[in-house]
Amino acid sequence: MADDTHVLDHPPEGAAADWTIPQDWAHFTPEEHRVWDTLFARQAALLPGRASNAYLRGLDVLKLSKPGIPDFEELSDRLMALTGWQVVAVPGLVPDDVFFDHMANRRFVAGNFIRRADQLDYLQEPDVFHDVFGHVPMLADPVFADYLAAYGRGGQRALGLDALKYLGRLYWYTVEFGLIAEPEGLRIYGSGIVSSFAESRFALDDASPNRIAFDLKRVMRTEYRIDDFQQNYFVIPSFDELLRLTVETDFAPLYEELARLPDVPVATVLPEDQVLTLGTQAYALAQK
Ligand code: PHE
Ligand code: FE
Repeated sequence: MADDTHVLDHPPEGAAADWTIPQDWAHFTPEEHRVWDTLFARQAALLPGRASNAYLRGLDVLKLSKPGIPDFEELSDRLMALTGWQVVAVPGLVPDDVFFDHMANRRFVAGNFIRRADQLDYLQEPDVFHDVFGHVPMLADPVFADYLAAYGRGGQRALGLDALKYLGRLYWYTVEFGLIAEPEGLRIYGSGIVSSFAESRFALDDASPNRIAFDLKRVMRTEYRIDDFQQNYFVIPSFDELLRLTVETDFAPLYEELARLPDVPVATVLPEDQVLTLGTQAYALAQK
């Protein structure tokens, strides 16, 4: 999910009514499998001690270290046995209602293409490496798996309440760019971080970004940038707590309240924030 500027309003040729396509694993070339292996090797070396325990466990139990782009059937079998989720292929970004319907029914949609060897570090649209390496290990965790399915139902509800702007920020700052405070220290679990060579260091080690304790309303007020490292990360105390806070809160009155509050720009710190690291913003300032 992100900006849906290039989303069609009907499934493209060859796609089913729910926008899925056969993964057709055999169509990937040796060169494409090598891109996966190169990306995998880089991240696998970097993530121990940086990624959350739940993420690392998922990588292991799903056997994602097997060489080559994963076969979704095999992956879905493993995932289904653990948390009831499946991975299905789509041609690219899909409309929000389609995305939420799959998610509410524990189907994770993954792009059926991989970046080129000259795009290892950055890519605007989510490819199979981001979608599978970044997202799927967390789906092997029962609590996170429940969170994402509940999010899908929340998305369907938010569509009817015209509140996707707020709910989308929750996705951004948890599923995509979340940090967690584990007993051993801060760890990353957001897929946009764990699938990025540069941001998996920046998010934890750099002095530039703010790291702020997660607060639901605060997160839903906060703008985000999709084209560079984040200037704010929000830190959850545990996945149980994230699930509890989001599932036990009725978002409808919250959306109404949010509509009356100003949005918070990316690098702003509010007086009520519980700041874990006050960022220098040196990185963001240097980009200007
Ligand atoms: N509780 C939310 C609502 O009332 C639904 C939700 C659950 C959203 C979990 C996100 C994550 O809409
Ligand atoms: Fe993503």
